[in-house]
Amino acid sequence: MLLWIVLSAVVCACHAGAVCPTGCECSEAALTVKCVSKDLQDIPSGIPGYTRNLFITGNYISRIGPESFKGLVNVTTLSLSNNRISQIESHTFAGLRSLRSLDLSGNQLVVIHPEAFSVPSRTLRDLNLSRSLYNHTSVKDLAVSLRWSVLSSLQGLDLSGNGLIYLPDHIFSHLGSLRRLQLANNSLVAIHNGTFSALDRLEELDLSLNAFRTFRQEALRELDGLPWVRLHLGLNPYTCTCGIEPFAAWLNESQARVADAERLSCAFPAALRNTSILGVTEVPLGCHRAGEGPDLALQTSYVFLGIVLGFVGLMFLFVLYLNRKGIKKRIYDMRDACREVWEGYHYRYEIDSDPRLSHVSSSADV
Ligand SMILES: *[C@@H]1O[C@H](CO)[C@@H](O)[C@H](O)[C@H]1NC(C)=O
Ligand SMILES: *[C@@H]1O[C@H](CO)[C@@H](O)[C@H](O)[C@H]1NC(C)=O
Ligand SMILES: *[C@@H]1O[C@H](CO)[C@@H](O)[C@H](O)[C@H]1NC(C)=O
Ligand SMILES: *[C@@H]1O[C@H](CO)[C@@H](O)[C@H](O)[C@H]1NC(C)=O
Ligand SMILES: *[C@@H]1O[C@H](CO)[C@@H](O)[C@H](O)[C@H]1NC(C)=O
Ligand SMILES: *[C@@H]1O[C@H](CO)[C@@H](O)[C@H](O)[C@H]1NC(C)=O
Ligand SMILES: *[C@@H]1O[C@H](CO)[C@@H](O)[C@H](O)[C@H]1NC(C)=O
Repeated sequence: MLLWIVLSAVVCACHAGAVCPTGCECSEAALTVKCVSKDLQDIPSGIPGYTRNLFITGNYISRIGPESFKGLVNVTTLSLSNNRISQIESHTFAGLRSLRSLDLSGNQLVVIHPEAFSVPSRTLRDLNLSRSLYNHTSVKDLAVSLRWSVLSSLQGLDLSGNGLIYLPDHIFSHLGSLRRLQLANNSLVAIHNGTFSALDRLEELDLSLNAFRTFRQEALRELDGLPWVRLHLGLNPYTCTCGIEPFAAWLNESQARVADAERLSCAFPAALRNTSILGVTEVPLGCHRAGEGPDLALQTSYVFLGIVLGFVGLMFLFVLYLNRKGIKKRIYDMRDACREVWEGYHYRYEIDSDPRLSHVSSSADV
């Protein structure tokens, strides 16, 4: 019995190169190892050193760290999709000196450490994080990690389907080699100044299936700052009111850069649903041209002033009407008073004008 164990151990050692971890399929000829849907809870140990393509997908691995991928210096393609991974520690992939493509799609990342994606030789070209964030709160961690992981060679980044509602400032500012950026199927509503400023080499940018109602001047300037890019902007809830005009005009000029320009259409208001954005400039949107705006505002304020004054006048007349008896009486009183004053004056005048009495009058005054 003991002999048998020793013997089998020796046999195993002899065939070490041929050993394949349980739950995996290894093909030395194809330099490929696959551990697919085997309920694995950890990255299996003993993955052969020749492996170039490693697929560990559809398992229940929740955490990965630097010890997970020791000695796998030849791996160029690593897929860890659909594993329910929630935590990636710093330098997890540091041992994978040849890594070019990393697929983490379909996970539930909550904690992403700052240097999670560092590969020391900076070989990483493609990073797939499609549907990989547990919720949009993780995007802050992600932004830090994309900066700290030194991904200066990264050419493709897929962030689609992550429920992102905004992009943190400078999230892409250290990805100067990026050629393809997928942001489709999120909930983005705006692009801000500087979001894409470092991406001079970007060739493809997918913003379809988001929550954009329009693109404001700030966003259009940002998109104009990407000289080589081909854009995908479809399936957004474009709202064809006055705010759409700058975007519609821009689209007319930039058709060559927008892959799906002809298919962009209004989602709101209901009356304009399915109207092409390219054609929306011919539809009266109830907007005023530049220059008319202030005039119209002025007119409105005049009308308002008129109404207020009219109302005040009406109130005045009404008060007069209510007090008509008192007013009549007062007018009579006033008339009588006037008459008395007048008569008094008249009397004095007569006295004054009588030269015989002038002396008496002036002495009476003193
Ligand atoms: C990696 O591949 C090279 C040849 O491509 C081979 O010589 C080397 O032994 C491999 N490394 C390991 C750890 O197997
Ligand atoms: C990323 O992964 C998803 C799902 O696995 C896949 O549909 C998508 O094509 C991948 N993205 C890229 C750029 O290959
Ligand atoms: C996202 O998930 C984390 C961890 O479970 C939680 O703390 C946070 O509140 C969640 N955020 C949102 C917006 O649901
Ligand atoms: C969009 O993403 C969600 C997950 O966030 C996914 O369930 C859905 O299938 C995706 N839709 C498309 C059209 O890719
Ligand atoms: C955008 O940001 C840059 C600096 O990052 C600044 O120089 C420029 O004025 C800003 N543009 C607008 C319109 O805010
Ligand atoms: C669209 O652009 C063309 C030139 O490319 C121009 O002739 C036309 O007037 C523009 N249409 C609108 C509505 O701006
Ligand atoms: C939208 O218009 C296109 C053609 O322009 C048509 O094929 C499609 O059926 C329309 N969709 C709806 C919902 O009206």
